[in-house]
Amino acid sequence: MTTTLLGGLSPSRFLRDVWHKRPLLIRNAVPGFSGLLSPDEMRQLARREDVESRLIQGSGTPWQLDHGPFKKSDFKHLPKTGWTLLVQSLNHVLPEADALLARFDFIPHARLDDLMVSYAVPGGSVGPHFDSYDVFLLQGEGHRRWQISTQTDLAILDDTPLKILRRFEAEEEWVLGPGDMLYLPPHVAHYGVAEEACMTYSIGFRAPTADELAHGFLMHLQDTLKLEGRYADPDLRRQAHPGEIGRAMLAQIEGMIARIKWGKRDIAEFAGRYLSEPKPNVFFVAPDDPLSRAAFNRQANKAGVALDPKSRLLFADGRFFINGEAFAPAADEIPALKQLADRHRLAAPMPAPLRERLYHWYEAGWLEIDDQ
Ligand code: SIN
Ligand code: CO
Repeated sequence: MTTTLLGGLSPSRFLRDVWHKRPLLIRNAVPGFSGLLSPDEMRQLARREDVESRLIQGSGTPWQLDHGPFKKSDFKHLPKTGWTLLVQSLNHVLPEADALLARFDFIPHARLDDLMVSYAVPGGSVGPHFDSYDVFLLQGEGHRRWQISTQTDLAILDDTPLKILRRFEAEEEWVLGPGDMLYLPPHVAHYGVAEEACMTYSIGFRAPTADELAHGFLMHLQDTLKLEGRYADPDLRRQAHPGEIGRAMLAQIEGMIARIKWGKRDIAEFAGRYLSEPKPNVFFVAPDDPLSRAAFNRQANKAGVALDPKSRLLFADGRFFINGEAFAPAADEIPALKQLADRHRLAAPMPAPLRERLYHWYEAGWLEIDDQ
C-alpha cells in the first residue's frame, strides 16, 4: 500500500529506504491541510499552566528564549517580525492533533514523543540547529523556507539560550506550503524561516540515550531485586592491617554482586514501564462527576471507549503497561487490550472481561467514553 503521506512510498519502503537514514521532502503529504488551530488559540494554550510553551525572539544573534506559561500582556508588544511561539504536546490537548499523530502509526507508539506546533511571524525562526531525534515537519498555514545540511560540523554557539549551530552551510532549500512535509533523520542540520506568518507542526520521536536507559534499568532493578544471604566470615584470619579491606572480603562482596542477574523478561518489564511512563509534567484529571459503574458500562457499550490522549498503553512479551504500571491481563482480555493499545480506542460493544479494568482507568482519568 502506498500513501500520499509518504509521497507515494509504502510505509515499509519508507522505513527501509528513508527512516533514520536520509531527509525526504514530500509535497502535498496531507492534501487540504491548513492547520489545526489559529494563532489566537495557540496564544491561549501558551497561557495555560499545564501546557509547555516557549517564545523565541531574534532572527540572528542575539536570541532570546522565554518559557511559558505566558500572560496576555506578554504578546502585546511583540514586533511584527522575527519571533516564534512554540507549544509542545498539542496532541494532549487537541483531539485533532491526536488524530493527526495516528497517521504516523507505521512507527511504534513507543518511539513517538509528541506533536509540537510553532507559530512564526515573518522572519521568525528558531535558528539553524540539529535535533537528536527523527522529525516530520508538516507545514500548516503560510509558507516557511527550509534549508538543510548533512554537515558533520555540529558545533554550537556558546552563549545563547538555544542550541544554534556555529556554522551552517545549506545544501538544499525548499519553500514549504500548507500540507507539504519534510522528514529529517537525527543530526541533519536545518534552518526554517517563516516567509510570512506561518505554522509548522513537528511530529517528534523519542530516542533515549544508552545512559538514560541504563540508569532507568538500574533503578528498576533496585526496586525489584531480592538477594538472600548476608556477609559471613567463619574462616576469618587475623590481618596485618586491620584498616585494610582484605582480599577475602572483596572476593565475597564480588560474589554477592555477581548474583545480580537479569533476563529478557526483566528487560521487557523495564522497557514497558519506562516507555509507557508519562513525561513528568503530565497530570491526569479524574472526571468531576464520574459515571456509576452501570452508567459507564451502558455508555461504553453504546459509544466505545478511547484512551485519554496523555495515556500510554503498550505491551511486550505477554505483559501490558499503562502509564508506567505493569499488569498481566487474563487471556480473554488480550485481543481487546491489543486493539486499544494499537488504535487508542475500542469500538462498542465493550468486551465483558475488560469492563472492570476500563472502569478503573476511567476513574483515574486515563480513559474516556469515545465521543467521536
Ligand atoms: C519550528 O517549527 O520552527 C522548528 C521545528 C524544528 O526545527 O524542529
Ligand atoms: Co529542529
